[in-house]
Parts: sequence; C-alpha cells; structure tokens
Amino acid sequence: MTKYDDTFLIESVKQAYSSVAKTGSAPEYAAEVAESVGYTRDQLESIPKESHMGLGCGNPTVTATLKPGENVLDLGSGGGIDIFLAALKIGAQGKAVGLDISTDMVKRARENARKRGLFPPHVSFVECSLADTLPINSNSIDCVLSNCVINLLPQSGKNHIFKEIYRVLKPGGRLVLDDILSKEELPAHIRDDMKQYISCIGGAIQVHEYNELLDSAGFKESMFVDSEADLNIYLMAANAGSMPITCCSLGPEKAQMSSSRTVDMDLNQWAASYQIYSRKPNDSSGIVCSEPLERWWDAFPVGWSTDVAPISPTELAAMLRNDPADVSVIDVRGEDRDGGHINGSFHFPAQTFHNQLAEFHGQFAAAGAVVFYCGGSVGRGPRCAGWYQDFLHANAIPGPTVLILNGGFRRWAEESGDMDAT
Ligand SMILES: C[S@@+](CC[C@H](N)C(=O)[O-])C[C@H]1O[C@@H](n2cnc3c(N)ncnc32)[C@H](O)[C@@H]1O
Repeated sequence: MTKYDDTFLIESVKQAYSSVAKTGSAPEYAAEVAESVGYTRDQLESIPKESHMGLGCGNPTVTATLKPGENVLDLGSGGGIDIFLAALKIGAQGKAVGLDISTDMVKRARENARKRGLFPPHVSFVECSLADTLPINSNSIDCVLSNCVINLLPQSGKNHIFKEIYRVLKPGGRLVLDDILSKEELPAHIRDDMKQYISCIGGAIQVHEYNELLDSAGFKESMFVDSEADLNIYLMAANAGSMPITCCSLGPEKAQMSSSRTVDMDLNQWAASYQIYSRKPNDSSGIVCSEPLERWWDAFPVGWSTDVAPISPTELAAMLRNDPADVSVIDVRGEDRDGGHINGSFHFPAQTFHNQLAEFHGQFAAAGAVVFYCGGSVGRGPRCAGWYQDFLHANAIPGPTVLILNGGFRRWAEESGDMDAT
C-alpha cells in the first residue's frame, strides 16, 4: 500500500497525463514504444498520428475479436489509439466509447476523431474518473478494453472498476485488458515514488491480487498472459532523448518524484506487461441495452454559453410576421416531434447537432437571429443554443443573434394555437 491518499494519487496522475496530452510525445518515441508493445506499422498508419503517444503496454484490439455492430468501451482512452482501431473493426453500426479523467486527453481524442470524421454516437470520448460510477448503461457493452490504466488507480479504484466493468458488460460480454502487473510485492522505495507510480509501475499489483478483484466482481476463470514485452524500452527511448516530456517526468511538486534508488533500475525485474481476458457469465441477468452512454450529451463539451437570451412565443410570432427571412427557427427535438412543430422551422436533432456546428453556421450565418427550441426549452434547446453561441465566440463571429424560445414547443402550442403551430 502506498503512503499517498487516493485523491492525491488520482489528481497527480490526472495532472501528469494532462501535460502529456497538451504536448504529445515525440513521434519517434511514440512509434518505438507502440511497435514494441505490439502495434504494426500498418495499424499506426491507419489512425490519427496524434492518437498514439507511446503510453500503452499492449495492443488489446488485436485479440479482442471485435465484430461489426459491437459496442466497445475503452477505459483510460488517452489520445484514442485503441478506440480508433476498434472503430475500424466494429464498423458504422458499432459504438466505441473512450473514458478518460483528463480534460486535455478527451479534447485531444475528440480533435483526432473530428479529423477522421468520426463522431458520436459512433465514436465518443467522455471525461470521467474510473474511480466513480461510469456514465455507461448497465448491460450495454460487448467488449471492455483498457491499455495500461488500471495500475494507475488507487487500491479503492481498483476494487471499484472491476465491479463497474461487470455491470456495464452485456451477459457474455468480454474484457481484454493490457496492464502492468508486479512480479512480487513492490518495495516501499518503488511504491512510494510518484515517478514510478505515474509511470505505471508503482501502482502495479500481482496476478493473484488482480485475479481476486476480478473474481469478487463476478468474473470467473480469468486468463493472464505475460506479453514478455521489454518494459525498459520506455526508459531507453526516454534516455535516448526522443521523449521530450512524458508521464514519467511530471507531477505535483510536493510528491517525492524521483528516488535515486530507482534511477537505474531494471523495470523487468519488478514488473511485466500482461494481457488479461475474462467474460461475464452468459446466464447473468439484466436487460441488454443497445446504447452505451447514459447521457448522450456527455460526448460533447460540458461548457456551453448559458447567457443566451430567451424570447417569448409572442415575440417570436411577431418576428416571423414582420421579417420571416431574418429569423431562422431550429427544432432540436429527436423522435418526440409528433405533436407538431413551428411552421418553417428547421430540424437538427440535438444528439448530432454539435457534430455539424460548422455546417450549421454555413447554412444560417446570414440570418439576423437563430431561435432554438425543444419540448420545454430547458434541456436540448439551451444546450444547442449555447454550443452555437460558443462556436460564434470561439471564431470571433459577431452574429447571428442566438435566442431560446421560452417554454419551448409546449408553450408555443398553448399560446399560439392560431399562429401556425402545425
Ligand atoms: C498510460 S495512459 C494510457 C492511454 C491509452 N490507453 C493508450 O494506450 O494510449 C493512461 C491514461 O489513463 C487515464 N487515466 C488515469 N487515471 C484515470 C482515472 N482515474 N480515470 C480515468 N482515466 C484515467 C490518463 O489520463 C491517461 O490518458
């Protein structure tokens, strides 16, 4: 057990990997590590290069036997390397969700996805801590992946995550994890060295401890395979100067970041990279859910302008009467539009609105005002209006004026039954 408390460990790891996300790794380092842990050159060339930073310790998608249409979850998805490889296998009908604690990692992964034209709900990246309840529906995932992440969780997080994996997997669903495990109980000078912790060594536990956690979560007959990768590759590549800034060189000042006793250590003496396989029993109960994300909006930026002005149905009706060409009305409801819509409004379902912001602006840039609504204009309407306002701010575009229809379609229908609510 390390001397640091859980919050400190989680925050230190988050800070360290956020720094890596901002700077990236030198391409030679990333490629050297990636190839040494099992990625082929072809695979690396098939995905955005900013998605691999030499942070993994295996290649879980190779052995995960992913099939078209499956739902995949990657725990600690980093720049998105394994999600992008998974997406190629599950095809357009499958859903791949990456979870990561670092805002900067999630941002990087989303940018990589955007460059490849991969968007939610097909490919999503969501910010969350694996030490908390995952924002994923129970019984919704065919395969859980994770690459060099579980060791970074404090002991309470390790206890928790296997129960969460079990919860989110469909009956018969599988897990394929690559992780660093220790060969024996780590001595205090390694366990308590934050540099070693952040480098995925200090928090490593032994095979029998890992197996007990899987077992108590409900997984039976898990399999552990030593990949026999040379862990010293990280040190060699770093020492060769091809790694400008890494997970190993960062951390909060108050932590004991480096111990002279671990500087020249042989990592292979203490730890090994393992692939771990298991399956949730097929007879486990639970209604299978086809949608992984509990809240679709988790896949998009959390911050959105909340200062978008409201407009009443009466005011909107007056605008539409006076100068209909100057106002565009946007209905962001999904399948709940049966009760009608405001005549002339354009339909952009909120679930995919953020994917199309630039195109949306291209279509409506010339309008004087753009008015958003949903059923009650308390959820999807303000969110989409806020995202559009954010887009205008971010690109220093002065207009159009963004407005939210107060009370949404329900109030419009009540107050203006005689005003074209068809
Ligand atoms: C060693 S990197 C591996 C990244 C990725 N799996 C890969 O192979 O490139 C560890 C990743 O796990 C994330 N991570 C660490 N602790 C986490 C936690 N408590 N919750 C969610 N993500 C976490 C980090 O932000 C980082 O992106």
